[in-house]
Amino acid sequence: MKNDPIISVRNLNYAVNNNQILSDIFFDIYEGEFVGIIGPNGAGKSTLVKIIIGEIEEYTGEVTIKGKIGYVPQTEEVDVTFPMKVYELVLLGLYKDVGPIKRFKKEHYQKVKEILKILNVEELYSRQIGELSGGEYRRVMIARALVSEPDILILDEPEANIDKPGQELLLNILKKLKEEKNITIILVSHDLNMIFKETTKILCLNKTLHCHKNTWDINIQDLKNLYTEDFQLFAHLNGTMKAVIDKDDRIF
Ligand SMILES: Nc1ncnc2c1ncn2[C@@H]1O[C@H](COP(=O)(O)OP(=O)(O)OP(=O)(O)O)[C@@H](O)[C@H]1O
Ligand SMILES: [Mg+2]
Repeated sequence: MKNDPIISVRNLNYAVNNNQILSDIFFDIYEGEFVGIIGPNGAGKSTLVKIIIGEIEEYTGEVTIKGKIGYVPQTEEVDVTFPMKVYELVLLGLYKDVGPIKRFKKEHYQKVKEILKILNVEELYSRQIGELSGGEYRRVMIARALVSEPDILILDEPEANIDKPGQELLLNILKKLKEEKNITIILVSHDLNMIFKETTKILCLNKTLHCHKNTWDINIQDLKNLYTEDFQLFAHLNGTMKAVIDKDDRIF
C-alpha cells in the first residue's frame, strides 16, 4: 500500500497578464523519490518550484505539501555585496525553526559547521560571502537549504557555476541524503546526464506536463516532444552523454 503523496498538485494553472505560464498540471510525488524536472528555457520549471515552496500564491488549483522544504534557488536572492559571513548566511536556513526574536544557540552554530563539512567547504565558515567563487557560493546556498534538515530538498539548476568534480560531489551528497535520511529530492536541471543517472522519476515540463514517468520509461520521443526545436540537444545526447537507445527507443 502506498502512503499519501508528500507533494500533490491538482489542476494547477498560472498566468501573468493573460500570459499562460503553467496549464493543467497534475502530479504526485512520494516520500523518498528523486524527481528530475526537465524542459527548455522558459518552460515554467522555476515558476512551478516557486509555487511549490509558496513564493508564488496567485495560481489556481490545489498544491498540497506535507513536510519541511529546503530550497536552493536558481538565481540568487541574496545581495553578495552585503557584508555577511558564510555562517550567518547558512544560519538563515534555521530562521523558521528558531523564529525571529529568539537567538541562535551553540547547537545551531554546530549544525552550520557540520553541514559545511558535509559539503566540503568548512574552511569557508568565517569568509565574507562577497569573497566566494561562484561554485563555493552555490555550495553555501545548498548548506543553507540543508541545515534545517528538510523532508524535501528542491534544487533549481544547482550545477550552474560548479565544475565537474563539484557536480560529482553534489550528486554523491544527494544520493547519501536519500539513502540515509530518505529525503525527497526535486532536481531541476538542463544536465540530462545528471538527471538520467540519478533520478527515479522525471517530470517533462513545457508549460504543461508532457510526461511524468519512471526515469527508465522516458524514451527519445518524450524528449523530442519536449524540446521540439532543440536539435542541438540530441547531438549532445548522442555525443557527450553517451546515451544508448535500445530498439524500443529507451535511453540508458
Ligand atoms: N513575473 C513574471 N512576469 C511575467 N512573466 C514571467 C514572470 N515570471 C516568469 N515569467 C515567464 O514565465 C515563463 C517561465 O519562466 P521560468 O523562469 O519558470 O522558466 P524556466 O523553465 O525556469 O526556464 P530556465 O530553464 O531558463 O530557467 C518565461 O516565459 C518567463 O519569461
Ligand atoms: Mg529556471
